[in-house]
Amino acid sequence: MPADRMLARARRLALLAAGATLVSACSWFTDFKDQPDVDPWESPADTIGARGNPQFSVAVTGRTAPGYMASYANGGKVLDDTLAALRNPVPADARSLDNGRKYYQINCEVCHGLAGGAAPTAAGAGAMGDGPVAGPKYGMYPPSLRTDRVRNFSDGYIWGIIRNGRGIMPSYDRIEEMDRWDVVNYIRALQQPNVTVPVTPAGKPGETGKTVPGYTRTGPTRPAPYLRPDGHSSYETVNGASPASATDTTTTTTQGATAPAPSAPTNPPESQP
Ligand code: HEC
Repeated sequence: MPADRMLARARRLALLAAGATLVSACSWFTDFKDQPDVDPWESPADTIGARGNPQFSVAVTGRTAPGYMASYANGGKVLDDTLAALRNPVPADARSLDNGRKYYQINCEVCHGLAGGAAPTAAGAGAMGDGPVAGPKYGMYPPSLRTDRVRNFSDGYIWGIIRNGRGIMPSYDRIEEMDRWDVVNYIRALQQPNVTVPVTPAGKPGETGKTVPGYTRTGPTRPAPYLRPDGHSSYETVNGASPASATDTTTTTTQGATAPAPSAPTNPPESQP
């Protein structure tokens, strides 16, 4: 083979090799499995601290901070700071008060009393609960829940005391989170000057059926209550737009107009302890 032809051939080969390198270096040929992404544990920063929830993500069990971030310590700063600021997502409707009554009477009544303790008129410092174990016989002195002091606790603070206990009062974390809000609502009802909730026992000892709480409300088969970003819950009027009438053909413009305005929060305004 003449030398010039050999040279030309070598040049062609070199060009081809260069071209191949170029093609493989660039990702011209993308496919679905190969996309820009952040893989799990890709950055060491992933292991540092807890990531916040995405904005407007839905809390389904009534806690706005991940459980492991809120201490179970009996009383103390974490309880005050973290739990006291929680908003009560459960409106105090008949269902909630009825459920709260059952849990209250099973768990709290023994110390604080059926009606929550001494009435507001007598509620100075030292107003006491009047449950069967309260008093010198067992050395148990639970405060009344109808004092101005407890009235001024935020819903979240009471919710937190039930969760963690305080002082001699044990933790009642066994009451699930959503049910615990019902207990808070029931206590709020007991604090009213004219108590409208029943303060008689919901059932006799050993009685079952409707007088005891139902199945778990946080089980996987239960639809998650949708919490709107403004803190109202779906028990009110989420998706409450009235159905467009049959003759209505301009749904896009009229649907918004016929939707009822979101109802005002039914919870009492919260104040910090
Ligand atoms: C074994 C008796 C006992 C039971 C049962 C009990 N508590 Fe208490 N509770 C107490 C005592 C004692 C205190 C005072 C704690 C302290 O000194 O910090 C207290 C304090 C409280 C306070 C704060 C009152 C204040 O004035 O600071 C609230 C609210 C409360 N309990 C709610 C409840 C609820 C709700 C339940 C039921 C889930 C419950 N308690 C069950 C004994 C009890």
